[in-house]
Amino acid sequence: MKIAVFASGRGSNFKAILKAVNEKKINAEIPLLITNNPDAGCIEYATENGIPVQIVRRKDFSLREEFVKSLLLFLAKAETDLIVLAGYMKKIPDEVLDKYHNRVINIHPALLPSFGGKGMYGSNVHKAVLNAGCKVTGVTVHFVVKEYDRGPIIAQQCVDVMQGDNPETLAARVLETEHQLYWRVIRKFSEGKIKVVNNKVFIEE
Ligand code: GAR
Repeated sequence: MKIAVFASGRGSNFKAILKAVNEKKINAEIPLLITNNPDAGCIEYATENGIPVQIVRRKDFSLREEFVKSLLLFLAKAETDLIVLAGYMKKIPDEVLDKYHNRVINIHPALLPSFGGKGMYGSNVHKAVLNAGCKVTGVTVHFVVKEYDRGPIIAQQCVDVMQGDNPETLAARVLETEHQLYWRVIRKFSEGKIKVVNNKVFIEE
């Protein structure tokens, strides 16, 4: 299976997935990293590991169609089977979602459908969880659909909110769980064990 990873930042999820691939826990390759951010930490890590990187930014194209075409071309050239969003902070164009229907997944640092939607990313999520006084938060892996954070949920794992947590301590604990959960979901997908029926996900053991 060929995975195209999209990331915008430090890329710790990308690293965790690549580690699982390198350790042969997942029968897959990562022939492409796409980023919108030329300063993203994930670029250096990809380059060190021989993974081709493409910086694809809407602002570099005068026409939206050209931008979308460029994304689709890179994905096709990499023979992409699965698109994995790992801290990618831009919306995926509808045309890409149509072409890769139920083949685009995302990880979100809370228990969706709570604490999702536009603007809910990174520390905003953890601040909102703490402001709401939640005792439990977690991680969600879901298929990506046109509406933010609304796609069928594939897997979730809870993380306790501790007394005295701040957004940073909570984010760190949630991130550890992300690194454990995401590659396991990708492995299930690579084994063909994830099915979507009526917008609900079923996973074979
Ligand atoms: C992760 O916590 C991920 O769940 C979150 O961004 C972080 C990226 O970290 N994604 C979202 O908030 C998406 N709405 P990373 O660059 O170290 O993988």
